[in-house]
Amino acid sequence: MASDSLSILTENEHKPLPISTPKREQIDRPNSPSKPCSFISLVISSSVALSATIALAFLFFSTSTATSSSVNPVSTDHHSVSKSLSKLKRPVVIIVSFDGFRFGYQYKTDTPNIDRLIKNGTETELGLIPVFPTLTFPNHYSIATGLYPTSHGIINNKFTDPTTGEQFTLRSREPKWWLGEPLWETVANHGLKAATYFWPGSDVKKGSWICPKDYCMLYNSSVTFEERVDTVLNYFDLTSDEIPSLMALYLEDPDSQGHEVGPDDPRVTESVANVDKLVGRLITGLEKRGSFEDVHIIMVGDHGMVGTCDKKLIFLDDLLKWIDIPTEWVQSYTPLLAIRPPANYSSANVVAKMNKGLKSGNVTNGEYLRVYLKEDLPSRLHYSDSERVPPIIGLVAEGFKIEQTNSGIQECAGAHGYDNAYFSMRTIFIGHGPRFARGKKIQSFENVEIYNLVTKILKIKGASNNGTKSFAKDVLLPSR
Ligand SMILES: *[C@@H]1O[C@H](CO)[C@@H](O)[C@H](O)[C@H]1NC(C)=O
Ligand SMILES: *[C@@H]1O[C@H](CO)[C@@H](O)[C@H](O)[C@H]1NC(C)=O
Ligand SMILES: *[C@@H]1O[C@H](CO)[C@@H](O)[C@H](O)[C@H]1NC(C)=O
Ligand SMILES: *[C@@H]1O[C@H](CO)[C@@H](O)[C@H](O)[C@H]1NC(C)=O
Ligand SMILES: *[C@@H]1O[C@H](CO)[C@@H](O)[C@H](O)[C@H]1NC(C)=O
Ligand SMILES: [Zn+2]
Repeated sequence: MASDSLSILTENEHKPLPISTPKREQIDRPNSPSKPCSFISLVISSSVALSATIALAFLFFSTSTATSSSVNPVSTDHHSVSKSLSKLKRPVVIIVSFDGFRFGYQYKTDTPNIDRLIKNGTETELGLIPVFPTLTFPNHYSIATGLYPTSHGIINNKFTDPTTGEQFTLRSREPKWWLGEPLWETVANHGLKAATYFWPGSDVKKGSWICPKDYCMLYNSSVTFEERVDTVLNYFDLTSDEIPSLMALYLEDPDSQGHEVGPDDPRVTESVANVDKLVGRLITGLEKRGSFEDVHIIMVGDHGMVGTCDKKLIFLDDLLKWIDIPTEWVQSYTPLLAIRPPANYSSANVVAKMNKGLKSGNVTNGEYLRVYLKEDLPSRLHYSDSERVPPIIGLVAEGFKIEQTNSGIQECAGAHGYDNAYFSMRTIFIGHGPRFARGKKIQSFENVEIYNLVTKILKIKGASNNGTKSFAKDVLLPSR
């Protein structure tokens, strides 16, 4: 599996993909998610069924004036108070993440089980907004903590601590890397049980979260998705007091396929159909135990996916006439360019020279990359306020890739990690259960809001975080 999901960050590709013509202004101001053009390109490039296209286009144009961060429901057809629990003694949340489930994938094929959650639940009408950078570990840990990456510490899938020189990798489990208070720790702090299955960061011991045996699985990519779902279901065979209040489940698909073949390939469609079967397995298993209507299921992804092609490459070596950027300075290349020059270099000077070269017209695709001192990044990215973020960050336009030198290898595949304002980086959010109104559509929101949603459902006090105060109250039904 070629995926950055938990073990490696690789992008293999072998199959050419059609790509849409890039727009020059994207580098200055990525298409606002509410602009029709980006939406149309999503629809076209995702090869969705014609009927879904029409339905979506209608839905889009009819709401195109909506702003993306407010939570005002765009439709409400729901009861005014939550349903009371019939079987369970206290609220239970299952949060399940499908890695790289781009918003819109649910229209690629029949997804009867996901549709059930949507029909009787609450969904973001135009998807969930990931945090920047739109990568797996930063986003899963933002969902878990309600914090932006600069506050929770996992600022990239891989980075170097500037003071100790130590490297964080996807395998780093020392608590010192993982800041903030993740949901499982909050739950444990309140004397409740939590269970985690491969959610990034959940096997790190923090405070009263000791990663208990049988309730905290250590990552092993060979464990089938079915086995993961069944393990969660088996918790419902415990006595009512023993059933964990929070279950956090992680699955690598459809990210794996998206990286290998790009979002438009039939293999991604197949993977989405399989994701839907897994959702069905969860629903059926809960129904068999009489708990489906009692449980809160939150289905999310960490980010989207966009097709990349080697026609859209930028080589740092093409900047040699202006400045030499040796590989040792570069902490990550693409899509997030992160550079830490040695201490005797002025970062501002490096940035100025790089941008001069990129704008000269003599660097292929140079206009699609802009380099910033991290403190000059747009504040909406929340990516300045951490020592761990290297001083120089490059933002590259959607679908472009940055490499040191021209390797001559021609590849087309899929990638994520771009500016979170790109519509292609959005993922899904569906909430189903007693506190979620049936058939409610809400506007897109950033995933840092989810932490407060879960603590409110569980009726526990969460740690301080970057979610907005009123969000959970606006989205959830009042508890009866
Ligand atoms: C939605 O919930 C109602 C009431 O429980 C139920 O009758 C109906 O079958 C559910 N719909 C779907 C699509 O699951
Ligand atoms: C990983 O899971 C597979 C399949 O369940 C199992 O056979 C294998 O022993 C596990 N590996 C480790 C290190 O636990
Ligand atoms: C910084 O130090 C290195 C190693 O001592 C040296 O090679 C380089 O020329 C210096 N660069 C500047 C801009 O001072
Ligand atoms: C860009 O390339 C052209 C043609 O090769 C050359 O005439 C011009 O001087 C170059 N400009 C810069 C800033 O290097
Ligand atoms: C996010 O929350 C943390 C913890 O409360 C706080 O320190 C930080 O300043 C917040 N960041 C933003 C951008 O609000
Ligand atoms: Zn991911």
